[in-house]
Amino acid sequence: MAKYVAIRDIVQDKVPVGFLELAGWIRTHRQSKRVSFIELTDGSAVSNLQLVVDPQLSGYAEVAPKLSTGASIRVSGELVVSPAKGQKYEFQVKTLELLGEADPESYPLQKKGHSLEFLRENLHLRPRTATMGAVLRVRSAAAFAVHKYFTERGFFYLNTPIISTSDCEGAGEMFHVSTFDAENPPRVNGKIDYSQDFFKEPASLTVSGQLEGEICAMGLSKIYTFGPTFRAENSNTTRHLAEFWMIEPEMAFYELSDNIELAQDFVQDVIRQVMTASSSELEFLASQEWAQQGHIENLQKVAETAFTRMDYTDAIKILEASGKTFEYPVSWGIDLQSEHERFLTDEYVKGPVTVINYPKDIKAFYMRLNEDNKTVRAMDLLVPRLGEIIGGSQREERHDVLLAKIRAMGLDESAYWWYLELRKFGTVPHAGFGLGFERLLMYLTGLQNIRDVIAFPRFPGFAKF
Ligand code: 4AD
Repeated sequence: MAKYVAIRDIVQDKVPVGFLELAGWIRTHRQSKRVSFIELTDGSAVSNLQLVVDPQLSGYAEVAPKLSTGASIRVSGELVVSPAKGQKYEFQVKTLELLGEADPESYPLQKKGHSLEFLRENLHLRPRTATMGAVLRVRSAAAFAVHKYFTERGFFYLNTPIISTSDCEGAGEMFHVSTFDAENPPRVNGKIDYSQDFFKEPASLTVSGQLEGEICAMGLSKIYTFGPTFRAENSNTTRHLAEFWMIEPEMAFYELSDNIELAQDFVQDVIRQVMTASSSELEFLASQEWAQQGHIENLQKVAETAFTRMDYTDAIKILEASGKTFEYPVSWGIDLQSEHERFLTDEYVKGPVTVINYPKDIKAFYMRLNEDNKTVRAMDLLVPRLGEIIGGSQREERHDVLLAKIRAMGLDESAYWWYLELRKFGTVPHAGFGLGFERLLMYLTGLQNIRDVIAFPRFPGFAKF
């Protein structure tokens, strides 16, 4: 194990004062005749640690010109309680070694703040910035919170396949997986002959682990997945990624109302956990110029207040009665567009809202049909500014109804033989949902572009690094 102490542990008072060793990157270096100061970060905390250097320190004078922003160093010395205001500790350097310089003429990240756009073009250096450092630590804390939440409530963590031969959402927005020569695949009667391909049938990157999740929930009762998901939709927006992470719990013996309650409890618990574990990160992010006023207070409120529930049919009535002119006209049967969702959350409810019982024709084949024969037991959780962060439903567990639905939607029933078989043998009511992890992170951090809450975003035209 490396001997270097993390600055986070110092800031959190976990390290006694005294002799220790540190390693990190220089944020700033101020020199004077009597004493020099280096602000050091190791990316473990929002705060830097102030290093105090005696200019007479052996070897310092030679390396001092190279101790510029971004250079990496290793130091040993004494951690002491700081006599200066505004910081608890400082570090009196006894030895200093320059590990790697960062030429100020060419190092792109200088001391001044950089725009989020600029950082998106420098993904290889972005994790060194205070903003991305904070985001990635929040992301890590949120992932831990998700596992903690489900593990403590008797859910089992399930890994569903990344390569799949089924299209869960039935939307056909999939990236194909093949070992064929793309320029010259084998053909029979003009069509690509997949029987010669690696899997002997067309395969893709998964759009959701739900269907496999259902298989396992039918054995273990309560599971959740947390993995990468891929959508080849050409959505060049601030809310869509081509590769995103999704959390999908699936529960046997749950109905729609149980599912709604779980989704609320889960989101609120994760918010509370992250507010505790990453309070300094959230405060730092909330202090940025792009941040919304009152962001933290708002999170606190959302974590404590029950989410509004609304029938799709009522949502349509509210939108129709709003007197607003929407770009996409409102009528029963439409899929809610971002502008409609924003009206409901930002203006009408002024908080999160769970919209339920959507028309069957705009939702996936697996959702349970309601008695009215027109709507399905779907639920979408919409939040202010962002819109949908969760999509879920009670699943159709009746074999005959499901089969009729698959046929009516023109899906290939032979491809779903196993999904139908789950309904033949020991079928049970069950439900689940999918939370987009990056959407949750946007909500937590207040960042407005999904590309800023994942280290290496993938979107149309971009898959660098
Ligand atoms: O509503 P979706 O498509 O639902 C499913 O995939 C279901 N199989 C989930 C389930 O019931 N188990 O996606 C669920 C969530 C959305 O609410 C959104 O938060 C996120 O996944 N999401 C995306 N996030 C980023 N980029 C995209 N392109 C996304 N598409 C969906």
